[in-house]
Amino acid sequence: MNALQRDLKNLVPLVESLGKETVAADPHRQRFHLQPPVGWLNDPNGLCVYGGQYHAFFQYGPFDVNGGVKHWGHAVSTDLLHWEQLPVMLYPDEPFDCHGAYSGSALVEDGTMYLYYTGNVKHPGNFDYIKEGRGHNVCLAVSKDGVTLDSKQCLLTNRDYPAGLTCHVRDPKVFAYEGRYYMVLGARTLEDKGEVLVLESTDKLRWTHINTLTTPEPFGYMWECPDLFCLDGQWYLAVSPQGIQCQNVYGCGWFAIHGDWRGDCTLSEFHELDAGFDYYAPQSFVDGNDRRIQIGWMGMPDADYGNAPTVAYGWQHCFTVPRVLTAGPDGILLQNPVPELDAQRSAAALHAASGEEVFLAPRFDLTAAPAGDFCLTVAQGVQLVYTEQDCTCTLRFTDPALADGRTVRRARLAAPCRSLRVVGDNSSLEIFLNGGATVFSTRYYPAPGDVNIKLTGAACELCNL
Ligand code: FRU
Repeated sequence: MNALQRDLKNLVPLVESLGKETVAADPHRQRFHLQPPVGWLNDPNGLCVYGGQYHAFFQYGPFDVNGGVKHWGHAVSTDLLHWEQLPVMLYPDEPFDCHGAYSGSALVEDGTMYLYYTGNVKHPGNFDYIKEGRGHNVCLAVSKDGVTLDSKQCLLTNRDYPAGLTCHVRDPKVFAYEGRYYMVLGARTLEDKGEVLVLESTDKLRWTHINTLTTPEPFGYMWECPDLFCLDGQWYLAVSPQGIQCQNVYGCGWFAIHGDWRGDCTLSEFHELDAGFDYYAPQSFVDGNDRRIQIGWMGMPDADYGNAPTVAYGWQHCFTVPRVLTAGPDGILLQNPVPELDAQRSAAALHAASGEEVFLAPRFDLTAAPAGDFCLTVAQGVQLVYTEQDCTCTLRFTDPALADGRTVRRARLAAPCRSLRVVGDNSSLEIFLNGGATVFSTRYYPAPGDVNIKLTGAACELCNL
């Protein structure tokens, strides 16, 4: 263990214990969403099943509620809803990752956990840190018990990537397929075009670039956090592109892949994964029940809205509720909360007639089968309006006290809206329309106590969670 790791290993638990009481006193602390013990959280990393438990790692800034140098925080769960925090897994403590253990993924094989991540290094000097001055290394950390590390090494540096790229090459997602290993890496070219590199390996250590996935015309300047997976025989590439025209600062969505991603292939049109304010950098994994489960960061980098109410208590951001991904009609990706959430529903369901007001704790699950226009109001300040005429859904904050700068987001549904599900936690709403074909995720900050819920245009069923 080097001296930096020794000190960080003491300092992180210290700041966590110093901040613990303040964080716990926050009425907006979430009940069933993964959140940081203290400080800052962003992307999900290394999602996997290991030793009979779900493991989730997260971009963690324990020292700075607004970011700071990134560690890999670590939590485990048996139901994907209740998370137990474990000690930090990756510290930024080596010359190849000293300015952040950035995002990556996990490969589990023969009882060993292989964690591939990006070592971020900023060289001192007068650099732009895009074309010069930054190292983005692919690093590998190995664990034989899922809790402590046996080794950490740098596998690839910027010199190993194809020509024509900036220093921004990051977020390895690694998986095994047809007897080989594959890695996808997000990249930014010197012409400011976003793309994904595909690398291949037979030993998990030596990697060869075999293909590049991108659009014919530039679609944003950088593609972050790629994920490549297959559902019902169709391959999908999920990415978080920066620099595209969309409602949020950055986009997040998927392409279907036509052809073989190891060789000749093209990408379909881009589909947004979430129309809400807070959704970015999702990753997916397959669990023991053969379900593909996706978890996103319920936040947005560089947004002009924020989370001041939780920042005041020393923490910021959380993950979405884990969602099962399935391929719907025409291969459209559907996202739905894991069924484990159903087991959390209180036995007594409330039935509310159209327009009837209900008071419930903010942890609720609402379902409805609308047949036309509807309007849902939560906490007298968040409104979801659907108009059948143009199949459009609008999520609007009508009370700025709940919004911390959030205003309005819209989505046009591919078909008339016939199902609505809203999952509320103490400071988030996740809205699933038409069986998960359209989703809105947002943080919100209701006053402590019960929230007022009213759906006009359809009856609904409500349960406490
Ligand atoms: C996405 C991202 C990744 C990077 C990480 C750093 O939110 O910018 O590309 O690895 O966050 O925290």
